[in-house]
Amino acid sequence: MTDLIIIGAGPGGYKAAVYAARHGLKVTVFEDVHVGGTCLNVGCIPTKTYVHSATFAEATERQPQVVEALRGGIETLLSHPNITLIREKGVFINANTVSGVTAKHIIVATGSSAKMLPIPGADGQNVGSSTELLGLKELPKRLCIIGAGVIGMEFASVFQRFGSEVTVVEYLKECLPMVDGDIAKRLRKLLEKRGITFYMGAGVKSIDGSTVLFEQKGKEVSVEADYVLMATGRKPNVSPDFANAGFNYDERKGIAVDENFKTSVKGIYAIGDVNGRQMLAHAAEMQGIHVVNRILGIEDKIRFDFMPAAIFTEPEAACVGPTEDQLKEQGVPFECHKSFYRANGKALAMNETEGMVKLCCEPEEGKLLSAHVFGAHAADIVQEVTAYITLGATLRQLRETVHIHPTLSEVLIEVN
Ligand code: NAI
Repeated sequence: MTDLIIIGAGPGGYKAAVYAARHGLKVTVFEDVHVGGTCLNVGCIPTKTYVHSATFAEATERQPQVVEALRGGIETLLSHPNITLIREKGVFINANTVSGVTAKHIIVATGSSAKMLPIPGADGQNVGSSTELLGLKELPKRLCIIGAGVIGMEFASVFQRFGSEVTVVEYLKECLPMVDGDIAKRLRKLLEKRGITFYMGAGVKSIDGSTVLFEQKGKEVSVEADYVLMATGRKPNVSPDFANAGFNYDERKGIAVDENFKTSVKGIYAIGDVNGRQMLAHAAEMQGIHVVNRILGIEDKIRFDFMPAAIFTEPEAACVGPTEDQLKEQGVPFECHKSFYRANGKALAMNETEGMVKLCCEPEEGKLLSAHVFGAHAADIVQEVTAYITLGATLRQLRETVHIHPTLSEVLIEVN
């Protein structure tokens, strides 16, 4: 007897399966590719292996080893006696049955895939998504990246360091639309100084062999490239058999869910990229845990409104909570406090002086609202602030917390 069916063993699906199994539920997991999903196989983990490799050759050699080791770890976790892993695509027969297995609860965690621009030449041999770029055996001499979102910026940063001549073409005026404008601009300027060429406010129209054509300020401009990375967003992985279950979904926006990730059909949930909410591995994981808690009748206080995120460029950028612009738009009164890496002893010792921290908090009580950081280990610094924000702490409480000296975290207590 199966209590819970999970379709997809990415970070959302496999974590939910292990958590449910440890709480005594009998779980059946369907996975037709590799366990670990996009994040482990062609996303976060391979890209971080690239970031932490000295050369392209070292990166391509280490990538399969790192991925294989982690995949082995997940397979071990999934060998729990309460879990049955079926290595095929889970297909909805009706609202309770997936490929012949019936259960009261079903979690859809099928993830997302790269969205390719529908422009002439997008199907060319030298054009691909981040998945194909990670499969290249030779470093492209000239790399053109379409889109200065998270994927575009991470690959621009690492391939420039490996020695590619990198050009980024972005439709909007600034990179990283979800990040604080000040931080995004500083990061772009730093990468520009390192030799990356950015064409901002430029919409790509077509690709003709090695020529990428785009329009900027009403003028036609072109860039020559040996490889073109399309990094213009991702789309939820929906499947026609979802119609057999009867829940609402949309090709573009994914599966519609409520605040508890329930679909429009009782007993069916959708977590991670496929619900189009927050396309982040850790968001998928926490959504899965929340759903299993609901099934088990356990109340939790996971704050999905404080979802930290990081961009693993060199240096990193990271944030939690609303940007200054968003706070202004929402009419929320706030104060902004800043500090800079160049005044931090550890940053100087590490020769990592490029960076800044911005903390937004309520004016009276000083309750922390958001943090935006750019600089070495920004993700770890934002993680610390995420804990304070989640617990409703104030800037004063953060300042009164003893910080180890010398550490980068001290930039937080050094804010003006
Ligand atoms: P994105 O939505 O972050 O950025 C896409 C960019 O492409 C936008 O800035 C957009 O203006 C631009 N664009 C669209 N059409 C264009 C055109 N015709 N010409 C020029 N520019 C154009 O999407 P991205 O970077 O592909 O990432 C996909 C998802 O994966 C995101 O939700 C992201 O959060 C997630 N992700 C997260 C990572 C992390 O947390 N470190 C790492 C990688 C991906």
